[in-house]
Amino acid sequence: MTTIPFPKDFIWGTASSAYQIEGAWNEDGKGPSIWDTFTHVPGRIANNETGDIANDHYHHWKEDIHLMVELGLKAYRFSTSWPRIFPEGRGTVNKKGVDFYDRLIDELLRKKIEPFLCLYHWDLPQGMQDLGGWPVREMAYYFAEYARFMSEKFSDRVKNWITHNEPFVTAGAGYFMGEHAPGIKEPLSAIKAIHHLLLSHGLATEAIHSVSKQPVSVGIVLNLNPIHPATNSRKDVEAARRFDTIQNRAFLDPLLLGTSPISEMKLLNRLAGSVIKPGDLELINHLDFLGVNYYTRTVIKHDSKFPIFATSQVHPKGNEYSGMWEIYPNGLYELLVTVYENYSKQIKSPQTMPTMMVTENGIPVPDGFDFDGKIRDERRIRYLGQHILQVQKAIQKGVPVKGYFVWSLMDNFEWALGYDKRFGLVYVDFKTQKRTIKDSGKWFAEVIKLNSLNNKLE
Ligand code: FCB
Repeated sequence: MTTIPFPKDFIWGTASSAYQIEGAWNEDGKGPSIWDTFTHVPGRIANNETGDIANDHYHHWKEDIHLMVELGLKAYRFSTSWPRIFPEGRGTVNKKGVDFYDRLIDELLRKKIEPFLCLYHWDLPQGMQDLGGWPVREMAYYFAEYARFMSEKFSDRVKNWITHNEPFVTAGAGYFMGEHAPGIKEPLSAIKAIHHLLLSHGLATEAIHSVSKQPVSVGIVLNLNPIHPATNSRKDVEAARRFDTIQNRAFLDPLLLGTSPISEMKLLNRLAGSVIKPGDLELINHLDFLGVNYYTRTVIKHDSKFPIFATSQVHPKGNEYSGMWEIYPNGLYELLVTVYENYSKQIKSPQTMPTMMVTENGIPVPDGFDFDGKIRDERRIRYLGQHILQVQKAIQKGVPVKGYFVWSLMDNFEWALGYDKRFGLVYVDFKTQKRTIKDSGKWFAEVIKLNSLNNKLE
């Protein structure tokens, strides 16, 4: 049997987020988030489901860490709920919320699992949205205050910090398409939100470092996709380039190069050029590591009906799909290599090319129990194996990929799609809160133990 070894200190983990698992939405002094408000409006979420209880991780956290131990995880990526710490977003601190994360972090460290703490995975305090949310510049400064507080509190133990999860989705799904909280459909607000999210990254990074109790690493998590044109026609090729600019370069350029591609897009520049103030890009241009969430590629065609960008997505026939996306493992290799090579060439000191990490990768599968009580999620095993192989190839090509996190530890609340889409290595019965490790969980534990893909299981 041939096995493919990973670097010795490769970080194997899983990822999750506060709103998707914690539940306890109004317990122990937590303030409401925009997701609490959004899910409580009938018709917003599939089956009108909410994250009110979700995985009840707020009460089951110890059991959940035990599951991580059983899987042999080296790291756990989670997010903290801003309104659990500051019920209004700023001002009064909720001590019980701080205590919850204190206990979680201590127990993770006791079990030798490295915490990767993400400050924002979409659950903006409703109080902040009432002030205008991300389209408002002040939000970046409020976020930095929250980040500073968290660093003062936890940086004695937490070394790896993530400011944002997928700011493209925060802005795009939340303020442009309106499919996510706060459910706003205003292109201009979304464009402003992108800049303020990036600015908040820069300000928070500075704040975290300035009060940290030890040297820490501060990164961001982006959902980057290789963008492919639907055909070779000039229109489609240009549409794909525009989409690449807004999904990938709009984030990578400011973070890595301290420049913005907005000025290249005439209409965008006219609408939003003045949102970027002098000095902002220098502030944003700081990254210790780059987290990449990868699920699929995006195929784009020209479509004049779509506002501003004149693009729409195509689903090529004959390819393999999950319940949400095309399955396209090669795209992960393409992405890691092209991002690394393109930006390494352009980057200017003092910023250096950050290390990279796959911070999410996974597949929804309609899992269920077999007669003997097992969950044979072979499709997930295949998907993960194929993608881990691409990570391996990228490392061999010289890309410094330091870790890989499966989305997700457990089945959980999948935003607008509710509980129907199961992504976990662990099955959750949402009526009883019983957790059961799926075959993919056992498989991943083996990968971690061997520090390599085990062909036998492919
Ligand atoms: C990512 C999100 C994560 C989860 C997965 C499936 O975009 O970061 O919360 O919903 O998709």
